[in-house]
Amino acid sequence: MEPLLQVNDLSVAFVEDKTETVVVDNVSFSVEPGEVLCIVGESGCGKSVTALSILGLLSPNARVKSGSIIFEGKDLLKMNSKELDEIRGNEVTMVFQDVMNSLNPVLTIGNQLTEIISAHMGYDKRKAKEYAIEMIKKVGLADPSAVMKKYPHMLSGGQQQRIMIAMALACEPKLIIADEPTTALDVTIQLQIMKLLVELQKEFHMSIILITHDIGLVAELADRVIIMYAGQCIEEATVYKLFDQAGHPYTRALLGSVPSIYDDPDKKLTSIPGTVPENYYEIEGCRFSGRCPYAKPTCSKDQVYFELEPGHLVRCHRVGKGEIPFESE
Ligand SMILES: Nc1ncnc2c1ncn2[C@@H]1O[C@H](COP(=O)(O)OP(=O)(O)O)[C@@H](O)[C@H]1O
Ligand code: SF4
Ligand SMILES: [Mg+2]
Repeated sequence: MEPLLQVNDLSVAFVEDKTETVVVDNVSFSVEPGEVLCIVGESGCGKSVTALSILGLLSPNARVKSGSIIFEGKDLLKMNSKELDEIRGNEVTMVFQDVMNSLNPVLTIGNQLTEIISAHMGYDKRKAKEYAIEMIKKVGLADPSAVMKKYPHMLSGGQQQRIMIAMALACEPKLIIADEPTTALDVTIQLQIMKLLVELQKEFHMSIILITHDIGLVAELADRVIIMYAGQCIEEATVYKLFDQAGHPYTRALLGSVPSIYDDPDKKLTSIPGTVPENYYEIEGCRFSGRCPYAKPTCSKDQVYFELEPGHLVRCHRVGKGEIPFESE
């Protein structure tokens, strides 16, 4: 089966005072039809920039330096804004973390939803309104007719996020990109909303790229996982493989360190010492070497990204040579 989306060797830089900083460096991955792909990593690793590149939503000081983003056989990076507009909102939609800035404060929920539905589905006003009510029901909000008449500030954060999901789903896209969509919410609401998104994903046969730093959510929702560190993919595997035999020392540390909404509150977190290095694009060898307990002098010389097993990619010199044992070994 052809992947729905194929990102090949994507590199993105920001230009400030004529200085270029490469923040996404040769990132490649694919998304299959009906798949939930999670992209995980600490803050500042290039996850959002990768997501925004797909929809051509990068800020004006960003430059795509190389790569292609093939969606259903066509390169999104080669499309003009009119062609991209056709894809955005119809075929691929995005759910952002910052709901308040994504909903229009001066329009009712009903107006915003029906406008999107009319524009993308070509429905007349009455049919668009009926469909909007149906979508509000689908995302689990009671009394949809009353919700239609409300302004965004009259809804709770969780209700607003449900409306964002209704908007993202309304045009029956093939792919939803959800960038840390629930981090601003209470933990129990986060879980409800993410589960809702994945239930609807199955019902609508969509694919999802879910960007999150919650390993618990990844375990529950992902089919496949990409770990990003300092602008690069450093590991890719199915969710089962990753939790059973994570290869990269960073992934292992991440699995042990990230607080999750599923955690026993008494669980001790093993933290990763240090932070993502600044100007990481200047580091020649392994970008994790400054924080890695297994680092050797050779690690700082160059990089490798290889297939440990079919479908399991790791960017580490020492994994797979018996030098770093898997926990289950
Ligand atoms: N508009 C921008 N201008 C300059 N640098 C940016 C901009 N947006 C993001 N960056 C930089 O790009 C890097 C990756 O950011 P981002 O993709 O937002 O990380 P993540 O989503 O993984 O937290 C960071 O170093 C960030 O400071
Ligand atoms: S390449 Fe070396 S420094 Fe980098 S993660 Fe592997 S062992 Fe650690
Ligand atoms: Mg981000």
